[in-house]
Amino acid sequence: MYLSVRISNAIAGLYKNFRRLRLNNRVALLLIGMLGISIGITAQTPAQHSAVHFNARTQIFRIDAANISYVFGVNEKKQLQMLYWGHRISEADNFPQPHSIKEPSSFDSSINVTPQEFVAWGGGLYVEPDLKVTFPDGNRDLVLQYVSHSIKGDNLTVVLKDISRNVFVDLQYQIDEKTGILQRSARVRNETDASITVEQIASATWVLPRGTNDQLFYLTGRWAAEWQLKQQTIEPGKTVLESRRGSTGAQNNPWFAIERGQSKDQDHGDVWFGALGWSGSWKISVEQDQIRQIRVTGGPNNFDFSIHLLPGEKFQTPPFYGGYSDHGMGGVSRLLHRFEIGSILPHAPYPILRPVLYNSWEATGFNVDEAGQEVLAEKAASIGVERFVVDDGWFGNRRDDHAGLGDWYVNKTKFPNGLKPLIDKVHSLGMDFGLWVEPEMVNPDSDLYSKHPDWILHFTGRPQTQARNQLVLNLARQDVRDYVFHTLDDLLNKNNIAFLKWDYNRNWSEPGWPSVAPENQKKVYTAYVQNFYSILKELRAKHPLVEIESCSGGGSRVDLGVMHYTDEVWPSDNTDAFDRLQIQDGFSYAYSPGVMMSWVTDSPTWVNHRSLSLEYRFLSSMQGSLGIGANLNRWTKEDFATAKKMVAQYKQIRSTIQRGALYRLISPQNNSEYSVTETVAEDRHQAVTFAFLHSSQMQYPFPRIHLRGLDPKMTYHLNVLEGKVSEETPGSASGTFWMNRGVDVDLQGDFQAAAFTLDEINN
Ligand code: GLA
Repeated sequence: MYLSVRISNAIAGLYKNFRRLRLNNRVALLLIGMLGISIGITAQTPAQHSAVHFNARTQIFRIDAANISYVFGVNEKKQLQMLYWGHRISEADNFPQPHSIKEPSSFDSSINVTPQEFVAWGGGLYVEPDLKVTFPDGNRDLVLQYVSHSIKGDNLTVVLKDISRNVFVDLQYQIDEKTGILQRSARVRNETDASITVEQIASATWVLPRGTNDQLFYLTGRWAAEWQLKQQTIEPGKTVLESRRGSTGAQNNPWFAIERGQSKDQDHGDVWFGALGWSGSWKISVEQDQIRQIRVTGGPNNFDFSIHLLPGEKFQTPPFYGGYSDHGMGGVSRLLHRFEIGSILPHAPYPILRPVLYNSWEATGFNVDEAGQEVLAEKAASIGVERFVVDDGWFGNRRDDHAGLGDWYVNKTKFPNGLKPLIDKVHSLGMDFGLWVEPEMVNPDSDLYSKHPDWILHFTGRPQTQARNQLVLNLARQDVRDYVFHTLDDLLNKNNIAFLKWDYNRNWSEPGWPSVAPENQKKVYTAYVQNFYSILKELRAKHPLVEIESCSGGGSRVDLGVMHYTDEVWPSDNTDAFDRLQIQDGFSYAYSPGVMMSWVTDSPTWVNHRSLSLEYRFLSSMQGSLGIGANLNRWTKEDFATAKKMVAQYKQIRSTIQRGALYRLISPQNNSEYSVTETVAEDRHQAVTFAFLHSSQMQYPFPRIHLRGLDPKMTYHLNVLEGKVSEETPGSASGTFWMNRGVDVDLQGDFQAAAFTLDEINN
């Protein structure tokens, strides 16, 4: 432990040394991230080993990892029957061979109440099916039975087949050793000698243990108000979370959590949760059946969906990840954050720490030019910014949002000598360079649209509905996919670009694909997304040092699918630091603050015309990946001094914030008067706490802050970054003290904020 403490305390100093040695920023951030994580992993309780077993006698599959056991078996009807999912049970615990559930009445046949892993529409099924198929002879009945399985390491594949026709489904299971999060997906194979139409296919169904008063948590929102957490009691019937928009959407996010009963706080209670790895139209249905079992079925949305499979063809669904925590909603998010860092993000398990960036969008809008950006770059560098990003407006005939999308060549009026002089300048200031693109879109007023009007999603002879004056390119077409790839590849070959902010500013309308046969046109929903991923994948392979941000007019394309290929995401265009507390809190239920870009922008904000101090705005943004989006030309000397100090502070706490375990001590949901978050480094050498006061009322002091997740025996030194703590607070004390006695911050007035760290004393 001593060794790990000493090493981890050295991490903060390392960054400075790397810079002194003139090592590339990114190498430094990678190494610091790796050190933080590897130390964290060794200091954590050792991972329990994972295993996948099949018991031939009882016909039972059992998957164990971390704190989780997942058990199902083959029943007497050869259905795959769910048996247990939850806290890890003893290896000696055995289940008898499953038996299907007897029909409660003639209206509720056995197939509707037996909890199956994956059930097709056929044999009188009324609950949400995992698969629905039409055969060319008009038959639409499909009944799947277990035929075989294979186990390779921690991967299990179970093969199901229809009772008479050669339609096979391969159910794939892969368990994450560290978090017990299970990845499930399905592949349907047409081995008949005629084509079939798949009208609906889910990645998986999760069946939860029967409970009472179960609570569903989900995320909803809209542009500039994403990530609102909602909670409702699950009643008989079905709740559908979905997007029919062609992409993930902000209206619902493909994530859910279900708590057994209502626990008394964030860090207690049994919660099952899941998230889809898919950036296209999707659907998760949460259904309580006749005997109060909860079934959660998720995958590509079946609305306006069909996949035509020729003999020998197959279709693979995206993954649906599922997990369980006995540490409440807080435990859910901590598991998901670890999983994203350890298994999902590019460079996992050592994703590169996010550099502090500057983006000029809110400062200059479309009015970007070489001279103006250079001035901002100098000012950004002076406060410690590490990455300078030019947003919308640098290309084609882009004066505003009416023209230019599709023409990804540099606008010569704004940048007469191309981007090189600016990029060189940015490099000479010690920063790397990033650029905004929106490659899937086209303005009708563009060279690209004039040349290829047929490249957009459309139905022949029907209107083409515009949004933000733009149309969506049909990425499902191979020629469009290749064009987009080559355009971006060329941009990256010709310019020394370290980062792309990849935007996507509208949803689909008239999703037609007239150039393929009618029976293949609805495949656009999946083919588009597969090509989107393939572009990202190929670009990353050819340009391994380039990082990418997923943005969709804010947080409309954030999911575990796109996060495989993107290093960070933009959660919302709403940069009001007070609104952000709620937005960021909601975001963090499903996604890691380590990927959550958060800019400090001007005050009063354009959003609510609210004025907030620069310190408050910084502290709000420092809870994620810090960025600056303010107009630095308007800043005073004092602003620069404050910013410089706070950027330096952020660099000291960055690896804790981006990699640590988040505790929501007081949630800002529902406009609460307070908000307090604490993040504990994985090896517990540091904890960072942010406290925000909305508005003092009736002279009540701020609630005492009781820390969580510290090492009880270790001594921690209190270091106040911003604001004041009460005079009775000792300078250092044990983890037990800080967790039980706690800290009183002195906050009064409106929109006040404080932050402090607890740093392990190395003695
Ligand atoms: C979207 C993004 C913004 C900005 C603009 C540029 O709205 O979310 O951050 O990049 O596009 O047009």
